Amino acid sequence: MKRMNCVIAGSALFVLVGCGATNDYTPPADATGESIFSTACTECHKPLSGNVAMLLSEDMANKESITKKFQSGSMRMPAFKNINGEAADRLAEYVLTHSDTNR
Ligand code: HEC
Repeated sequence: MKRMNCVIAGSALFVLVGCGATNDYTPPADATGESIFSTACTECHKPLSGNVAMLLSEDMANKESITKKFQSGSMRMPAFKNINGEAADRLAEYVLTHSDTNR
């Protein structure tokens, strides 16, 4: 006796289409801002000299804007939906305190 157990497989495709990419990286609970940055961000944001992680434009140089940026992404940057709560706070703090302002 055969039964059709229809599993909806089509839903797996929905993330792959469209222009806003997402990144599924999930930081471990005890991750520091620095370890998140070096794991998830340095692929594109190569640290500059010494302790300088990034160059921030002036309107980006606060934790709210940084957090919004990595959670929402942009045209060329994926959205990191799983960096939330304390991990997001630590990452934003790290980026802010280890960046130069572009001005
Ligand atoms: C796939 C490449 C890529 C990855 C991975 C990536 N970024 Fe970006 N990011 C970009 C690009 C390209 C820009 C500049 C263009 C733009 O703003 O869309 C950017 C811009 C930014 C900006 C804005 C800088 C400014 O002053 O305008 C911040 C803040 C930022 N990224 C933080 C992060 C953080 C934090 C991570 C890790 C969680 C991360 N990015 C991971 C590609 C990436």
